[in-house]
Order: sequence, then C-alpha cells, then structure tokens
Amino acid sequence: MHGSANLNIMIKAARKAGRSLVKDFREVENLQSSMKGAGDFVSRADIAAEKILHDELRGARPNYGWLAEEGGEEPGEDPTRRWIVDPLDGTTNFLHGLPHWAISIALEHKGQVVAGVVFDAAKDELFWAEKGEGAWLNETRLRVSNRARMIEALFATGVPFGGRSDLPQTLQELARLMPSCAGVRRWGSAALDMAYVAAGRYEGFWERRLNAWDIAAGLIIVREAGGLADPLREGRDILADGEVICANEVIFNKFAGLVRGG
Ligand code: IPD
Ligand code: CA
Ligand code: CA
Repeated sequence: MHGSANLNIMIKAARKAGRSLVKDFREVENLQSSMKGAGDFVSRADIAAEKILHDELRGARPNYGWLAEEGGEEPGEDPTRRWIVDPLDGTTNFLHGLPHWAISIALEHKGQVVAGVVFDAAKDELFWAEKGEGAWLNETRLRVSNRARMIEALFATGVPFGGRSDLPQTLQELARLMPSCAGVRRWGSAALDMAYVAAGRYEGFWERRLNAWDIAAGLIIVREAGGLADPLREGRDILADGEVICANEVIFNKFAGLVRGG
C-alpha cells in the first residue's frame, strides 16, 4: 500500500480485527438454533473487535482521541486528532449469517475526516481513502459511476426498523424516488453503502439517524472517488447530525431533489 503511516496503522488494525470477526462469523451459523446465544455471541465478537482496534490504534497513536460505538469517547492529549470507529457495521447481517458487514475506521483532524478505511473482511474488500490520494478498493483506484439518467440509476438507503419514528418520512422519500429509478437497496451496512457509491456499484445513498462512526470513513471514500456527500438537511453538519446524502456528481441534484421533497 502506498498510503501514509497513519493509513498503514488503520489498515493493519482493520485486518487484525477482521480476522477475529471472520472467525466468529463462521461460528455464528452454528448458534442460530439459540437466538439468545447468537445475540450474546455477536455482542462479544463486536466488543472483541473493538478491543483489537483500540489496542492497535491507540497503541500506535496514544495521543489521539477516540470515539467508538461500543466504548464511547476518550479525549486525547492532541485535541485536533481522533479515531472514529465502528468495529462492526451491519450487526444484524452478521447475526443472521449474511456476509455483508464491515469494520469502519476514520481519522479526523481539526473536524475534517482525513483518512478512512472500510473493510469487508468476509469478502476481503478493503476500501480506503486519504485526503488528496484518491479512493481505492484493495489496489484498484475507485471512481463513482457516471450514470446520469435516473431511470438507470440504483440507490441505497436504510429503512428505519424496530418501531423508529422516522419510518413514515423514509417511506415518503421512497415513494417519490422509486417510480423514477432502477431500484433502491437496503443492505444493512451504512459504511459499505458509502463504499459502494465510491466504487460505482450504485449511484447514490441516503440515510438519517446514523452516528459519526457509521459514516465518517465512508465520507472521505466517496469524496475521494469524485462523489458528492452532503448533509440531508442543507447547511447542517453531517457527522454531528448523522444524516447524509451522497451520489455521483452528475445525478446528485436530481436524486437529492426527489429525496428532499422537491
Ligand atoms: C447500522 C447499519 C445499518 C443502519 C443502522 C446502523 P450497526 O449499524 O449501518 O445499515 O441502517 O442505522 O445502526 O448497528 O450494524 O453498527
Ligand atoms: Ca454502525
Ligand atoms: Ca456497530
């Protein structure tokens, strides 16, 4: 890999945590008969992966801050830099034995994401980007798609589950968008959704009520692949709000117009 020292630290950490998660993922299928057992097992796998990431990332850069889904926030001596980590994005897929989940690691500097890694360990797909260095899938440079016609375009979102109050809003967005596009997918990993936009596998993605750790790495990967990523509500802060809309440049306005209700 040709990235910076920090990027190499991130990749090493992602691969190490990935090995642990892949091992646990193989076990999950055997536990399906006991739903409670499987749920507890996955929580332990998630926490074990976060510990590996914490040891690797904070071990290598002890003065950087830390924000992660399971372990919360730790300030660093250097207030300008922090790791933003989701050890397992796509937990429901993992629990159901679906091989679509990832580790997400971002490095933030002065409020901007400067490097991101999204690692789909089950498929050995490592998406990464660094400011000014482009976005990559393993050794291949990524570029968002150039599809401009809505009727040919494929999108992804997250449909609120488990009684969340924002379901009607998402259903309205789907009702506006679906008649004029080639389809909307709900894969269950926001980090991979953004990596897939960067890879040109679909044209755009939007979701609300996410957290910074779901989307921080994806943001730089999309942008370095030439895509646009904006707050869903214009003028807001993407990471603070946990609401994002991203797409290739040529389709962004048409897509965002429909999603936002234009
Ligand atoms: C979830 C995934 C999912 C999104 C959820 C997230 P988790 O993260 O990114 O796609 O729709 O809102 O919470 O819980 O699997 O880390
Ligand atoms: Ca997540
Ligand atoms: Ca998670």
